[in-house]
Amino acid sequence: MRKQYLDQDQEWFRAIIHSIHDGVLVIDREEIVRLINPEYTRITGVRPEVIMGKPLRSVRPGAQLVETLRDGKARVGIYRKEGDTEYVVDMAPIVIEGEIVGAVSICKGLTEVHKLSLELEKNKQKLQQLEKTMGSLYRARYTFDHIVGARGGLSELVRIAKKAADSQLPVLITGESGTGKELFAQSIHNESRRAHRPFIPVNCAAIPAALLESELFGYEEGSFTHAKKGGKTGLFEIANGGTIFLDEIGELPYELQAKLLRVLQEGSIRKVGEVREREIDVRVIAATNRDLGQLVEKRLFREDLYYRLHVLSIHIPSLRDRKEDIPGLVASFLAAEGGQPRMSVHEEVFQLLLRYEWPGNIRELKNTMDYAMCMAEGREIQVHNLPAYLQQLPRNFADLAAADPGVTLREVVENAERQWISATLRQFGEDVEERKRAANKLGVSLATLYNKMRKYNLNPSDDSKSLE
Ligand SMILES: Nc1ncnc2c1ncn2[C@@H]1O[C@H](COP(=O)(O)OP(=O)(O)OP(=O)(O)O)[C@@H](O)[C@H]1O
Ligand SMILES: [Mg+2]
Repeated sequence: MRKQYLDQDQEWFRAIIHSIHDGVLVIDREEIVRLINPEYTRITGVRPEVIMGKPLRSVRPGAQLVETLRDGKARVGIYRKEGDTEYVVDMAPIVIEGEIVGAVSICKGLTEVHKLSLELEKNKQKLQQLEKTMGSLYRARYTFDHIVGARGGLSELVRIAKKAADSQLPVLITGESGTGKELFAQSIHNESRRAHRPFIPVNCAAIPAALLESELFGYEEGSFTHAKKGGKTGLFEIANGGTIFLDEIGELPYELQAKLLRVLQEGSIRKVGEVREREIDVRVIAATNRDLGQLVEKRLFREDLYYRLHVLSIHIPSLRDRKEDIPGLVASFLAAEGGQPRMSVHEEVFQLLLRYEWPGNIRELKNTMDYAMCMAEGREIQVHNLPAYLQQLPRNFADLAAADPGVTLREVVENAERQWISATLRQFGEDVEERKRAANKLGVSLATLYNKMRKYNLNPSDDSKSLE
Protein backbone atom coordinates (compact mmCIF):
# COMPACT_ATOMS: atom_id res chain seq x y z
CA MET A 1 0.00 0.00 0.00
CA ARG A 2 2.72 2.44 1.09
CA LYS A 3 4.82 1.49 -1.92
CA GLN A 4 1.90 2.26 -4.17
CA TYR A 5 1.70 5.77 -2.70
CA LEU A 6 5.43 6.21 -3.10
CA ASP A 7 5.21 5.17 -6.73
CA GLN A 8 2.37 7.61 -7.23
CA ASP A 9 4.37 10.41 -5.59
CA GLN A 10 7.34 9.72 -7.80
CA GLU A 11 5.23 9.70 -10.92
CA TRP A 12 3.64 13.01 -9.85
CA PHE A 13 7.06 14.48 -9.15
CA ARG A 14 8.47 13.27 -12.48
CA ALA A 15 5.51 14.77 -14.35
CA ILE A 16 6.13 18.14 -12.69
CA ILE A 17 9.82 18.16 -13.57
CA HIS A 18 9.00 17.15 -17.15
CA SER A 19 6.58 19.99 -17.62
CA ILE A 20 9.02 22.67 -16.38
CA HIS A 21 10.11 25.10 -19.08
CA ASP A 22 13.76 25.10 -17.89
CA GLY A 23 16.24 22.25 -18.30
CA VAL A 24 16.63 20.22 -15.08
CA LEU A 25 19.37 17.73 -14.13
CA VAL A 26 19.60 16.03 -10.73
CA ILE A 27 22.48 13.97 -9.32
CA ASP A 28 22.55 11.98 -6.09
CA ARG A 29 25.27 12.03 -3.46
CA GLU A 30 27.33 9.55 -5.49
CA GLU A 31 27.29 11.98 -8.44
CA ILE A 32 25.05 9.60 -10.38
CA VAL A 33 22.58 11.33 -12.74
CA ARG A 34 19.10 10.49 -11.43
CA LEU A 35 16.88 12.72 -13.46
CA ILE A 36 16.77 14.97 -16.50
CA ASN A 37 13.80 16.46 -18.27
CA PRO A 38 13.10 16.89 -22.01
CA GLU A 39 13.98 20.60 -21.87
CA TYR A 40 17.48 19.65 -20.63
CA THR A 41 17.88 17.44 -23.70
CA ARG A 42 16.55 20.20 -25.97
CA ILE A 43 18.99 22.76 -24.63
CA THR A 44 22.14 20.62 -24.27
CA GLY A 45 21.44 17.99 -26.93
CA VAL A 46 22.23 15.23 -24.34
CA ARG A 47 19.71 12.37 -24.60
CA PRO A 48 18.52 10.48 -21.47
CA GLU A 49 19.97 7.08 -22.51
CA VAL A 50 23.46 8.63 -22.72
CA ILE A 51 23.41 10.15 -19.24
CA MET A 52 20.81 8.58 -16.93
CA GLY A 53 22.29 6.34 -14.18
CA LYS A 54 25.86 7.30 -15.10
CA PRO A 55 28.40 9.26 -13.03
CA LEU A 56 28.08 12.90 -14.16
CA ARG A 57 31.88 13.34 -14.31
CA SER A 58 32.23 10.56 -16.88
CA VAL A 59 29.55 11.88 -19.25
CA ARG A 60 30.01 15.59 -18.72
CA PRO A 61 33.62 16.22 -17.74
CA GLY A 62 34.08 19.66 -16.18
CA ALA A 63 30.49 19.82 -14.85
CA GLN A 64 30.50 22.20 -11.89
CA LEU A 65 27.51 20.52 -10.29
CA VAL A 66 29.85 18.04 -8.59
CA GLU A 67 31.55 21.02 -6.89
CA THR A 68 28.19 22.14 -5.58
CA LEU A 69 27.64 18.64 -4.23
CA ARG A 70 31.00 18.82 -2.49
CA ASP A 71 30.94 22.35 -1.01
CA GLY A 72 27.16 22.80 -0.66
CA LYS A 73 27.36 26.24 -2.29
CA ALA A 74 24.75 27.40 -4.79
CA ARG A 75 26.06 28.83 -8.06
CA VAL A 76 24.03 31.23 -10.11
CA GLY A 77 24.17 32.38 -13.74
CA ILE A 78 27.04 30.18 -14.99
CA TYR A 79 27.42 30.70 -18.72
CA ARG A 80 27.72 27.60 -20.96
CA LYS A 81 28.07 27.01 -24.68
CA GLU A 82 27.52 23.73 -26.49
CA GLY A 83 27.92 23.87 -30.26
CA ASP A 84 25.61 26.69 -31.32
CA THR A 85 23.58 26.62 -28.14
CA GLU A 86 24.30 29.08 -25.38
CA TYR A 87 22.69 28.77 -21.97
CA VAL A 88 22.93 29.85 -18.37
CA VAL A 89 22.96 27.42 -15.44
CA ASP A 90 21.92 27.82 -11.81
CA MET A 91 23.07 25.10 -9.38
CA ALA A 92 21.97 24.25 -5.85
CA PRO A 93 22.60 21.48 -3.34
CA ILE A 94 19.67 19.29 -2.27
CA VAL A 95 19.62 19.20 1.52
CA ILE A 96 17.55 16.82 3.64
CA GLU A 97 17.74 17.10 7.41
CA GLY A 98 20.92 19.10 7.21
CA GLU A 99 22.70 16.66 4.96
CA ILE A 100 23.59 17.16 1.29
CA VAL A 101 21.97 14.29 -0.57
CA GLY A 102 22.39 15.53 -4.13
CA ALA A 103 22.46 18.58 -6.36
CA VAL A 104 20.26 20.07 -9.02
CA SER A 105 21.10 22.21 -11.97
CA ILE A 106 18.62 24.38 -13.86
CA CYS A 107 19.45 25.51 -17.39
CA LYS A 108 17.89 28.37 -19.34
CA GLY A 109 18.57 28.68 -23.05
CA LEU A 110 20.23 32.02 -23.68
CA THR A 111 17.89 32.75 -26.54
CA GLU A 112 15.10 32.76 -23.97
CA VAL A 113 17.09 34.98 -21.59
CA HIS A 114 18.03 37.19 -24.49
CA LYS A 115 14.41 37.49 -25.59
CA LEU A 116 13.37 38.35 -22.06
CA SER A 117 16.03 41.01 -21.71
CA LEU A 118 15.01 42.54 -25.03
CA GLU A 119 11.42 42.58 -23.85
CA LEU A 120 12.49 44.12 -20.57
CA GLU A 121 14.33 46.84 -22.45
CA LYS A 122 11.25 47.52 -24.60
CA ASN A 123 9.03 47.68 -21.53
CA LYS A 124 11.44 50.01 -19.80
CA GLN A 125 11.22 52.38 -22.76
CA LYS A 126 7.42 52.11 -22.73
CA LEU A 127 7.40 52.89 -19.04
CA GLN A 128 9.56 55.96 -19.56
CA GLN A 129 7.22 57.09 -22.33
CA LEU A 130 4.21 56.54 -20.08
CA GLU A 131 5.84 58.44 -17.25
CA LYS A 132 6.44 61.34 -19.61
CA THR A 133 2.84 61.28 -20.81
CA MET A 134 1.68 61.05 -17.23
CA GLY A 135 3.79 64.08 -16.37
CA SER A 136 2.17 66.10 -19.12
CA LEU A 137 -1.32 64.74 -18.35
CA TYR A 138 -1.08 65.81 -14.76
CA ARG A 139 0.54 69.13 -15.41
CA ALA A 140 -0.35 72.08 -13.22
CA ARG A 141 -1.50 74.96 -15.44
CA TYR A 142 -1.05 77.93 -13.19
CA THR A 143 2.01 79.78 -11.93
CA PHE A 144 2.43 82.77 -9.63
CA ASP A 145 2.27 84.97 -12.73
CA HIS A 146 -1.43 84.10 -13.04
CA ILE A 147 -2.24 85.37 -9.56
CA VAL A 148 -3.85 88.79 -9.78
CA GLY A 149 -3.21 90.79 -6.64
CA ALA A 150 0.27 89.35 -6.24
CA ARG A 151 1.45 92.93 -5.89
CA GLY A 152 -1.69 94.07 -4.06
CA GLY A 153 -3.72 92.35 -1.36
CA LEU A 154 -1.90 89.05 -1.82
CA SER A 155 1.71 90.22 -1.98
CA GLU A 156 2.73 88.92 1.46
CA LEU A 157 1.01 85.59 0.80
CA VAL A 158 2.75 85.16 -2.53
CA ARG A 159 6.09 85.86 -0.86
CA ILE A 160 5.42 83.12 1.72
CA ALA A 161 4.11 80.72 -0.93
CA LYS A 162 7.27 81.18 -2.99
CA LYS A 163 9.33 80.31 0.08
CA ALA A 164 7.11 77.26 0.62
CA ALA A 165 7.88 76.14 -2.93
CA ASP A 166 11.57 75.79 -2.03
CA SER A 167 10.87 73.56 0.95
CA GLN A 168 9.70 69.97 1.16
CA LEU A 169 7.32 70.61 4.07
CA PRO A 170 3.61 69.92 3.64
CA VAL A 171 1.55 73.04 3.03
CA LEU A 172 -1.95 73.78 4.26
CA ILE A 173 -3.96 76.32 2.28
CA THR A 174 -7.13 77.65 3.86
CA GLY A 175 -9.71 80.09 2.62
CA GLU A 176 -13.36 80.31 1.63
CA SER A 177 -14.66 78.65 -1.49
CA GLY A 178 -13.37 80.28 -4.68
CA THR A 179 -10.54 82.27 -3.09
CA GLY A 180 -7.89 80.58 -5.24
CA LYS A 181 -6.63 77.70 -3.09
CA GLU A 182 -6.01 75.44 -6.07
CA LEU A 183 -4.42 78.31 -7.98
CA PHE A 184 -1.92 78.72 -5.14
CA ALA A 185 -1.32 74.96 -4.89
CA GLN A 186 -0.52 74.73 -8.62
CA SER A 187 1.71 77.80 -8.46
CA ILE A 188 3.70 76.34 -5.55
CA HIS A 189 4.17 73.08 -7.47
CA ASN A 190 5.26 74.88 -10.62
CA GLU A 191 7.72 77.03 -8.71
CA SER A 192 9.27 73.97 -7.02
CA ARG A 193 11.88 71.54 -8.29
CA ARG A 194 8.99 69.10 -8.87
CA ALA A 195 7.49 71.24 -11.66
CA HIS A 196 8.22 68.70 -14.43
CA ARG A 197 6.68 65.85 -12.39
CA PRO A 198 2.94 65.18 -11.90
CA PHE A 199 0.58 67.43 -9.96
CA ILE A 200 -2.29 65.21 -8.80
CA PRO A 201 -5.39 66.95 -7.45
CA VAL A 202 -7.65 64.80 -5.27
CA ASN A 203 -10.94 66.07 -3.91
CA CYS A 204 -11.35 64.17 -0.65
CA ALA A 205 -15.03 65.10 -0.49
CA ALA A 206 -15.84 63.87 -3.99
CA ILE A 207 -14.59 60.28 -3.60
CA PRO A 208 -16.78 57.98 -1.45
CA ALA A 209 -15.03 57.26 1.86
CA ALA A 210 -15.05 53.51 1.19
CA LEU A 211 -13.06 53.97 -2.03
CA LEU A 212 -10.75 56.73 -0.92
CA GLU A 213 -8.10 54.51 0.67
CA SER A 214 -7.61 52.38 -2.44
CA GLU A 215 -7.74 55.46 -4.68
CA LEU A 216 -5.00 57.13 -2.66
CA PHE A 217 -2.82 54.15 -1.83
CA GLY A 218 -3.78 51.50 -4.41
CA TYR A 219 -4.35 47.83 -3.65
CA GLU A 220 -2.76 44.44 -4.16
CA GLU A 221 -4.29 41.93 -6.54
CA GLY A 222 -6.87 39.78 -4.73
CA SER A 223 -7.03 42.00 -1.65
CA PHE A 224 -10.85 42.13 -1.74
CA THR A 225 -13.75 40.62 -3.68
CA HIS A 226 -13.95 43.01 -6.58
CA ALA A 227 -10.25 43.86 -6.68
CA LYS A 228 -8.95 44.20 -10.24
CA LYS A 229 -6.46 41.69 -11.58
CA GLY A 230 -2.95 43.07 -11.27
CA GLY A 231 -4.04 45.35 -8.41
CA LYS A 232 -4.30 49.10 -8.61
CA THR A 233 -1.78 51.93 -8.54
CA GLY A 234 -2.71 54.58 -6.02
CA LEU A 235 -2.65 58.33 -6.63
CA PHE A 236 0.29 58.73 -4.24
CA GLU A 237 2.30 56.39 -6.41
CA ILE A 238 1.25 58.21 -9.59
CA ALA A 239 2.33 61.47 -7.95
CA ASN A 240 5.77 60.06 -7.11
CA GLY A 241 8.41 62.74 -7.56
CA GLY A 242 5.68 65.35 -7.80
CA THR A 243 2.93 66.89 -5.70
CA ILE A 244 -0.40 65.56 -4.46
CA PHE A 245 -3.04 68.20 -3.80
CA LEU A 246 -5.51 66.98 -1.17
CA ASP A 247 -8.45 69.31 -1.58
CA GLU A 248 -11.11 69.47 1.14
CA ILE A 249 -8.78 67.71 3.56
CA GLY A 250 -11.34 68.30 6.33
CA GLU A 251 -13.47 65.56 4.72
CA LEU A 252 -10.72 62.93 4.93
CA PRO A 253 -12.12 59.99 6.99
CA TYR A 254 -10.60 59.73 10.46
CA GLU A 255 -8.89 56.34 9.87
CA LEU A 256 -7.25 57.62 6.72
CA GLN A 257 -5.90 60.63 8.56
CA ALA A 258 -3.59 58.28 10.50
CA LYS A 259 -2.38 56.77 7.25
CA LEU A 260 -1.71 60.20 5.78
CA LEU A 261 0.24 61.21 8.88
CA ARG A 262 2.39 58.14 8.38
CA VAL A 263 3.09 59.16 4.78
CA LEU A 264 4.12 62.61 5.96
CA GLN A 265 6.34 61.28 8.74
CA GLU A 266 7.90 58.21 7.12
CA GLY A 267 7.70 59.02 3.42
CA SER A 268 6.31 55.57 2.73
CA ILE A 269 2.95 54.11 1.70
CA ARG A 270 1.34 50.71 2.09
CA LYS A 271 -1.18 49.44 -0.45
CA VAL A 272 -4.44 47.92 0.73
CA GLY A 273 -3.79 44.21 1.32
CA GLU A 274 -0.03 44.61 1.21
CA VAL A 275 2.41 43.92 4.02
CA ARG A 276 5.46 45.78 2.85
CA GLU A 277 5.78 49.54 2.74
CA ARG A 278 7.22 51.28 -0.28
CA GLU A 279 9.10 54.51 -0.21
CA ILE A 280 7.67 57.46 -2.08
CA ASP A 281 8.75 61.01 -2.63
CA VAL A 282 5.59 63.10 -2.79
CA ARG A 283 5.02 66.66 -1.67
CA VAL A 284 1.64 67.10 0.04
CA ILE A 285 -0.37 70.29 -0.33
CA ALA A 286 -3.71 70.22 1.49
CA ALA A 287 -6.57 72.69 1.28
CA THR A 288 -9.82 73.29 3.07
CA ASN A 289 -12.50 75.92 3.44
CA ARG A 290 -13.39 74.56 6.87
CA ASP A 291 -11.96 75.56 10.22
CA LEU A 292 -9.66 72.60 10.92
CA GLY A 293 -8.99 73.82 14.46
CA GLN A 294 -12.70 73.51 15.17
CA LEU A 295 -12.80 70.04 13.61
CA VAL A 296 -9.94 69.05 15.94
CA GLU A 297 -11.96 70.27 18.93
CA LYS A 298 -14.93 68.19 17.78
CA ARG A 299 -12.58 65.21 17.38
CA LEU A 300 -13.36 64.96 13.68
CA PHE A 301 -9.80 65.76 12.69
CA ARG A 302 -6.68 64.28 14.26
CA GLU A 303 -4.74 66.78 16.30
CA ASP A 304 -1.35 65.25 15.36
CA LEU A 305 -2.12 65.53 11.65
CA TYR A 306 -3.41 69.06 12.13
CA TYR A 307 -0.14 70.15 13.72
CA ARG A 308 1.88 68.40 11.06
CA LEU A 309 -0.04 70.19 8.30
CA HIS A 310 -0.26 73.49 10.12
CA VAL A 311 3.51 74.15 10.12
CA LEU A 312 3.39 75.94 6.81
CA SER A 313 -0.08 77.31 6.38
CA ILE A 314 -1.36 79.94 4.01
CA HIS A 315 -4.69 81.62 4.59
CA ILE A 316 -6.16 83.33 1.54
CA PRO A 317 -8.40 86.22 2.56
CA SER A 318 -11.92 86.49 1.18
CA LEU A 319 -12.49 88.84 -1.70
CA ARG A 320 -14.72 91.13 0.41
CA ASP A 321 -11.68 91.76 2.65
CA ARG A 322 -9.49 92.87 -0.22
CA LYS A 323 -11.81 94.71 -2.54
CA GLU A 324 -8.82 96.72 -3.76
CA ASP A 325 -8.01 93.69 -5.95
CA ILE A 326 -11.39 93.80 -7.74
CA PRO A 327 -10.36 96.25 -10.52
CA GLY A 328 -7.27 94.16 -11.36
CA LEU A 329 -9.26 90.94 -11.34
CA VAL A 330 -12.00 92.42 -13.52
CA ALA A 331 -9.37 93.66 -15.97
CA SER A 332 -7.77 90.22 -16.14
CA PHE A 333 -11.13 88.50 -16.73
CA LEU A 334 -11.98 90.99 -19.48
CA ALA A 335 -8.66 90.46 -21.21
CA ALA A 336 -8.43 88.12 -24.19
CA GLU A 337 -5.62 85.56 -24.52
CA GLY A 338 -3.22 88.16 -25.88
CA GLY A 339 -3.86 90.45 -22.90
CA GLN A 340 -5.90 93.05 -24.85
CA PRO A 341 -9.16 94.01 -23.12
CA ARG A 342 -12.18 92.70 -25.00
CA MET A 343 -14.58 95.06 -23.25
CA SER A 344 -14.80 97.90 -20.80
CA VAL A 345 -17.04 98.27 -17.75
CA HIS A 346 -19.47 101.13 -17.06
CA GLU A 347 -18.59 103.08 -13.91
CA GLU A 348 -21.94 102.15 -12.25
CA VAL A 349 -21.18 98.48 -12.82
CA PHE A 350 -17.89 98.99 -11.01
CA GLN A 351 -19.69 100.57 -8.09
CA LEU A 352 -21.97 97.52 -7.83
CA LEU A 353 -19.05 95.09 -8.09
CA LEU A 354 -17.30 96.93 -5.28
CA ARG A 355 -20.39 96.97 -3.09
CA TYR A 356 -21.27 93.29 -3.42
CA GLU A 357 -19.92 90.93 -0.73
CA TRP A 358 -18.86 88.09 -3.08
CA PRO A 359 -19.69 85.01 -0.97
CA GLY A 360 -18.33 82.88 -3.83
CA ASN A 361 -15.18 85.01 -3.98
CA ILE A 362 -13.07 85.13 -7.13
CA ARG A 363 -14.83 82.22 -8.78
CA GLU A 364 -18.11 84.10 -8.46
CA LEU A 365 -16.56 87.30 -9.79
CA LYS A 366 -15.13 85.43 -12.76
CA ASN A 367 -18.47 83.74 -13.53
CA THR A 368 -20.24 87.09 -13.20
CA MET A 369 -17.87 88.72 -15.68
CA ASP A 370 -18.29 85.82 -18.13
CA TYR A 371 -22.06 86.19 -17.86
CA ALA A 372 -21.96 89.97 -18.29
CA MET A 373 -19.66 89.76 -21.34
CA CYS A 374 -22.05 87.29 -22.89
CA MET A 375 -25.03 89.57 -22.21
CA ALA A 376 -23.41 92.85 -23.32
CA GLU A 377 -24.65 94.28 -26.61
CA GLY A 378 -21.73 96.60 -27.35
CA ARG A 379 -18.15 96.83 -26.10
CA GLU A 380 -19.14 98.17 -22.68
CA ILE A 381 -20.79 96.17 -19.89
CA GLN A 382 -23.87 97.99 -18.53
CA VAL A 383 -25.72 97.49 -15.23
CA HIS A 384 -28.56 95.65 -16.95
CA ASN A 385 -26.03 93.09 -18.30
CA LEU A 386 -25.30 91.93 -14.74
CA PRO A 387 -27.12 89.02 -13.07
CA ALA A 388 -30.39 90.14 -11.42
CA TYR A 389 -29.15 89.77 -7.85
CA LEU A 390 -26.37 92.28 -8.53
CA GLN A 391 -28.63 94.77 -10.27
CA GLN A 392 -31.00 94.70 -7.31
CA LEU A 393 -28.24 95.36 -4.83
CA PRO A 394 -29.23 98.52 -2.93
CA ARG A 395 -26.83 101.08 -4.26
CA ASN A 396 -27.09 103.46 -1.40
CA PHE A 397 -29.70 103.38 1.37
CA ALA A 398 -29.75 107.18 1.73
CA ASP A 399 -30.54 107.52 -1.99
CA LEU A 400 -33.13 104.80 -1.84
CA ALA A 401 -34.95 106.28 1.15
CA ALA A 402 -34.87 109.77 -0.43
CA ALA A 403 -36.40 108.35 -3.62
CA ASP A 404 -39.23 107.07 -1.39
CA PRO A 405 -39.99 103.80 -3.16
CA GLY A 406 -42.71 103.11 -0.56
CA VAL A 407 -41.18 99.95 0.89
CA THR A 408 -41.42 98.91 4.51
CA LEU A 409 -38.48 97.90 6.70
CA ARG A 410 -39.76 94.34 6.61
CA GLU A 411 -39.65 94.33 2.79
CA VAL A 412 -36.09 95.66 2.75
CA VAL A 413 -34.97 93.03 5.28
CA GLU A 414 -36.73 90.22 3.47
CA ASN A 415 -35.33 91.31 0.14
CA ALA A 416 -31.82 91.32 1.58
CA GLU A 417 -32.40 87.94 3.25
CA ARG A 418 -33.64 86.40 0.04
CA GLN A 419 -30.69 87.72 -1.96
CA TRP A 420 -28.18 86.58 0.60
CA ILE A 421 -29.58 83.06 0.87
CA SER A 422 -29.85 82.76 -2.87
CA ALA A 423 -26.26 83.93 -3.40
CA THR A 424 -25.00 81.49 -0.76
CA LEU A 425 -26.98 78.55 -2.13
CA ARG A 426 -25.33 79.05 -5.47
CA GLN A 427 -21.94 78.27 -3.90
CA PHE A 428 -23.01 74.78 -2.86
CA GLY A 429 -24.43 71.67 -4.46
CA GLU A 430 -27.98 70.46 -4.06
CA ASP A 431 -27.65 67.31 -1.94
CA VAL A 432 -28.35 67.31 1.77
CA GLU A 433 -24.69 67.42 2.79
CA GLU A 434 -24.10 70.46 0.61
CA ARG A 435 -27.26 72.12 1.92
CA LYS A 436 -25.99 71.48 5.45
CA ARG A 437 -22.77 73.26 4.57
CA ALA A 438 -24.75 76.17 3.12
CA ALA A 439 -26.85 76.36 6.31
CA ASN A 440 -23.67 76.24 8.35
CA LYS A 441 -22.21 79.13 6.42
CA LEU A 442 -25.39 81.14 6.85
CA GLY A 443 -25.32 80.37 10.57
CA VAL A 444 -28.79 78.79 10.60
CA SER A 445 -30.05 75.22 11.02
CA LEU A 446 -30.83 73.09 8.01
CA ALA A 447 -34.53 73.20 8.90
CA THR A 448 -34.46 77.02 8.95
CA LEU A 449 -32.70 77.09 5.60
CA TYR A 450 -35.38 74.82 4.06
CA ASN A 451 -38.14 77.00 5.56
CA LYS A 452 -36.63 80.15 4.09
CA MET A 453 -36.12 78.50 0.72
CA ARG A 454 -39.79 77.57 0.72
CA LYS A 455 -40.80 81.05 1.85
CA TYR A 456 -38.80 82.75 -0.89
CA ASN A 457 -39.47 80.10 -3.49
CA LEU A 458 -35.72 79.66 -3.89
CA ASN A 459 -34.57 77.05 -6.29
CA PRO A 460 -30.84 77.61 -6.68
CA SER A 461 -30.62 75.79 -9.99
CA ASP A 462 -33.09 78.28 -11.43
CA ASP A 463 -31.99 81.41 -9.71
CA SER A 464 -33.03 84.17 -12.03
CA LYS A 465 -36.64 83.02 -11.91
CA SER A 466 -36.77 82.82 -8.15
CA LEU A 467 -35.47 86.34 -7.85
CA GLU A 468 -38.15 87.81 -10.01
N1 LIG B 1 -5.77 85.80 -7.34
C1 LIG B 1 -6.38 85.32 -8.44
N2 LIG B 1 -6.10 85.82 -9.64
C2 LIG B 1 -6.71 85.36 -10.75
N3 LIG B 1 -7.61 84.37 -10.76
C3 LIG B 1 -7.92 83.81 -9.59
C4 LIG B 1 -7.32 84.25 -8.37
N4 LIG B 1 -7.81 83.49 -7.36
C5 LIG B 1 -8.69 82.65 -7.92
N5 LIG B 1 -8.76 82.82 -9.26
C6 LIG B 1 -9.62 82.07 -10.19
O1 LIG B 1 -10.83 81.79 -9.50
C7 LIG B 1 -11.28 80.49 -9.73
C8 LIG B 1 -11.38 79.72 -8.44
O2 LIG B 1 -10.09 79.45 -7.93
P1 LIG B 1 -9.72 78.08 -7.22
O3 LIG B 1 -10.38 76.95 -7.92
O4 LIG B 1 -8.26 78.05 -7.06
O5 LIG B 1 -10.45 78.33 -5.83
P2 LIG B 1 -10.58 77.36 -4.56
O6 LIG B 1 -10.23 78.17 -3.38
O7 LIG B 1 -9.83 76.12 -4.82
O8 LIG B 1 -12.16 77.07 -4.53
P3 LIG B 1 -12.96 75.84 -3.86
O9 LIG B 1 -12.81 75.98 -2.36
O10 LIG B 1 -14.37 76.10 -4.28
O11 LIG B 1 -12.38 74.60 -4.40
C9 LIG B 1 -10.32 79.88 -10.72
O12 LIG B 1 -10.82 80.05 -12.02
C10 LIG B 1 -9.07 80.70 -10.52
O13 LIG B 1 -8.29 80.72 -11.68
MG1 LIG C 1 -10.61 74.17 -5.11
